[in-house]
Amino acid sequence: MAFFRPNIEAMDGYVPGEQPTDPNVVKLNTNENPYPPSPRVLEAIAAVTPEQLRRYPDPLGNAFRDAAASVHGVTRDMVLCGNGMDDILNITVRALSGPEAKLVYPVPTYTLYAVLANIQASMVKEVPFGPNFELPTDALVAEHGRVTYLANPNAPSGTTVSIDAVADLARQLNGVLCVDEAYVDFADSNCMRLASEFENVLVMRTLSKGYSLAGLRFGYAVGHPNLIAGLMKVKDSYNVDAVSIAAAAAALRDQDYARQCWAKVRDERERLRAALAGLDMPALPSQSNFLLARPAWRPAREVYELLKARRILVRYFDYPRVSDRLRITVGTREQNDKLLAALRELRG
Ligand SMILES: Cc1ncc(COP(=O)(O)O)c(C=O)c1O
Repeated sequence: MAFFRPNIEAMDGYVPGEQPTDPNVVKLNTNENPYPPSPRVLEAIAAVTPEQLRRYPDPLGNAFRDAAASVHGVTRDMVLCGNGMDDILNITVRALSGPEAKLVYPVPTYTLYAVLANIQASMVKEVPFGPNFELPTDALVAEHGRVTYLANPNAPSGTTVSIDAVADLARQLNGVLCVDEAYVDFADSNCMRLASEFENVLVMRTLSKGYSLAGLRFGYAVGHPNLIAGLMKVKDSYNVDAVSIAAAAAALRDQDYARQCWAKVRDERERLRAALAGLDMPALPSQSNFLLARPAWRPAREVYELLKARRILVRYFDYPRVSDRLRITVGTREQNDKLLAALRELRG
């Protein structure tokens, strides 16, 4: 018996990275931040009252919107809260695409875009990135998408395109440009100002990576008030809860703490990249908290399996342009050293 809509029957669901229960696993597979969240976050969670839990939360998450407005120099009506950036992505896909409205993005990239589009039976066009992950502006514009997604830094490549290139794309597109900045806290620059300069640009952020809160589930989008108002119609009524609103606002306001973590991750990223190159595992230059490295001495899938047997988890993707590589999250110095020691042993 076919219970599901044909597009749901036909599609594959998203496959999240493994979350092992063994605490001794060196976990470098889902791009979490290796450092704990700001102490202000735990204080904010402890300060949540029984009354706040008894009542429904603020449907708009205004305490967080005000924190984001002050950190990014925008107004509250330019901010949309989400249950992780995945919720923001889902809201935008549902609001902007469909069987008659094309969704476009350069590949390889975050595979959830395709999954969310398939759920909506949306028209989709994947456009290849350039050979060195350059932005294929003309090809993207030629598709006339109702919505175009760009992960910048991109995943799983870790590469970025310049703000000028993104602005140029936004100027040429008739539809909305969603800039997925999940990893931008580890980059040298970001596109936030484009959210104020263009009516069709939505800049999307998460607290999962830069703020060490993947378990909390909180993301947000910044864009023109009209764009945000339209998306508000589509979101779940209470898509962010009272605890996460308080915790996320506290995390975002503690910029000093977050910046210290970002600097440590960036330093470790460069050290790890140099060490991997020394082990014949060159990685693309990365502006994120992970490296996409190609073992020159053994197929990537085998290296993934051998590391796993040593209780070191990295990510292997079996799709074009990345199936010969491993995506390695930058861990603490100690975690990275364990990975490097295992690779040294495997390479022989
Ligand atoms: C490119 C990209 N965008 C968005 C997300 C989703 O982030 P969140 O944890 O906020 O749902 C991820 C998660 O890995 C990602 O890699």
